[in-house]
Amino acid sequence: MTDPQIVLTERVQQALANAFGSEHADADPLIRPSQFADFQANVAMSLAKRLRRAPREVAEAIKAELSDFPGTVEVSGPGFLNITLDDSWIQSEARQMLADPRLGVGTITPSQTVVIDYSAPNAAKEMHVGHLRTTIVGDSLARLHEHLGNTVIRQNHLGDWGTPFGMLIEHLLDIGEEAAVAQLEAGMGTEFYQAARSKFDGDEDFKLRARVRVTTLQSGDPDTMRLWHVFMDATIRYFNKVYELLGVTLTDADLAGESMYNPMLEKTCDDLESSGAAVLSEGALCLFPPGFTGSDDKPLPLIIRKSDGGYGYASTDMAAIRYRVHDLKADRILYVVGSEQALHFRMVFAAAQLAGWLPDTVSAEHVQIGMMLGKDGRRFKTRSGESIKLMDLLQEAIDRAAAAISDRGYDAELQKEIAHAVGIGAVKYADLSVSHDSEYILDFDRMLGFTGNTAPYLQYAQARIRSIFRKGAVDPAEATGPIVLGAPAERALALRLLGFGAVLEQTTADSEPHRLCAYIYATATAFTDFFEQCPVLKEGVDPDTRASRLALCALTLRVLETGLDLLGVPVPERM
Ligand code: ARG
Repeated sequence: MTDPQIVLTERVQQALANAFGSEHADADPLIRPSQFADFQANVAMSLAKRLRRAPREVAEAIKAELSDFPGTVEVSGPGFLNITLDDSWIQSEARQMLADPRLGVGTITPSQTVVIDYSAPNAAKEMHVGHLRTTIVGDSLARLHEHLGNTVIRQNHLGDWGTPFGMLIEHLLDIGEEAAVAQLEAGMGTEFYQAARSKFDGDEDFKLRARVRVTTLQSGDPDTMRLWHVFMDATIRYFNKVYELLGVTLTDADLAGESMYNPMLEKTCDDLESSGAAVLSEGALCLFPPGFTGSDDKPLPLIIRKSDGGYGYASTDMAAIRYRVHDLKADRILYVVGSEQALHFRMVFAAAQLAGWLPDTVSAEHVQIGMMLGKDGRRFKTRSGESIKLMDLLQEAIDRAAAAISDRGYDAELQKEIAHAVGIGAVKYADLSVSHDSEYILDFDRMLGFTGNTAPYLQYAQARIRSIFRKGAVDPAEATGPIVLGAPAERALALRLLGFGAVLEQTTADSEPHRLCAYIYATATAFTDFFEQCPVLKEGVDPDTRASRLALCALTLRVLETGLDLLGVPVPERM
């Protein structure tokens, strides 16, 4: 690990232990980037209070323990430690990073099995913008965990089961399989659902057929199951089109919809009842995990079997958590799902603990996805009120990107490729770059802007580095330096690049892709400063300087490319 901030943290902790005793070895040295040096450590002030000593005196004692440190340490003000790393240290770390195929990024040891539940659209409806964000955030988390050496098991918990399927199958029969399949494949799930619904509400005969169909479906009747498959296969083909357009890594092998758990529900309930974890309450089988009360102060139930014997969303999630812990052997389970389901997941996790199904060694986490809002700050909808279709939204982003680059003179093929990368990249990056649990306003103008913390800005930064190599007729892989730091902008860029591994680890540990976004943006900005101040190919630049600067360009390119790839943002070669 070469991240300067982490190296410093460890060194200052060591100094604290040496100066004040080993009980201080784990104290947070409060190291922050500084205006006056590379970093500033603020620990002396808080420690002084506890030790009842003068802060400057404490700071001096820490400084004395840092005498062999590869940099200079100064005590300033009331007791700040200003720390500046030696150029030679940064330089040698940067050289090592350049020579390392993994760019100084370690792997998590021991490696973990991480189950990631994400995307999970509902088959009875159109996949909508809400599912866009869980798909994009979940996919980035999957990529990050894999990059750090964990085993990732993707679980697409489709809503593909339940009472609406009775009326959906009857409607499919009414309009004919072929027509139904064509509609569903085209992403007209909402229209299909609404047509079925209105017949169900207005037509007694249809309603009766739909009810009978639910029972035959639940009993596993082969004809009905075939029809269910016809419906689901067509729907999944549509979902796959969206995944492909988005460049999401989900495949059919990751499908683990609600229907998969159907055969397990009876046993799930029986086991919970016989162990005493679940009890009957007003005819329904319920779990009462401690600490949950309703508005009337009564314990809040998690209903796993309704009084009519039916199963619901919570039943399936109880079966799923057991399966994930017991069969998939998860060390960590991430549920990337809308924040409006927070209570549901807190109850499911608590209930699973109550049942002894979620040992302390396994962590179940709800990665809450904030609601998507329109520019007016309201829940995102089209003007006429329905929620906007995902495909339409993505197409609009691509069209706008195409318009933005139409004056660049690319041939049609290239133009199309770049417009796709920029449009899709912009949508994905906009989702990723704000913290996943905050509400999020969809604003095409902002996300497609070529300035600021946007995909086009970052894509452009990497494309510009590539063009430097094209102009200089150098293969980036051959730009091996050596890196020799001179100008302040070179030093600042190198210092930034060294933080890559630590950012990936933090982002992955905390499930917060927006941190990686902030880092990539800061890196691109540092590169822009460097490129403005430090000519690379210009005549008169001496060969050693040129080699060093090309190496910095190559290292930046690899960091940007790898970082964007881990976010799932496509990187066009030219822009
Ligand atoms: N299909 C659900 C929805 O659209 C999300 C499922 C999330 N995963 C889970 N295990 N409950 O709201």
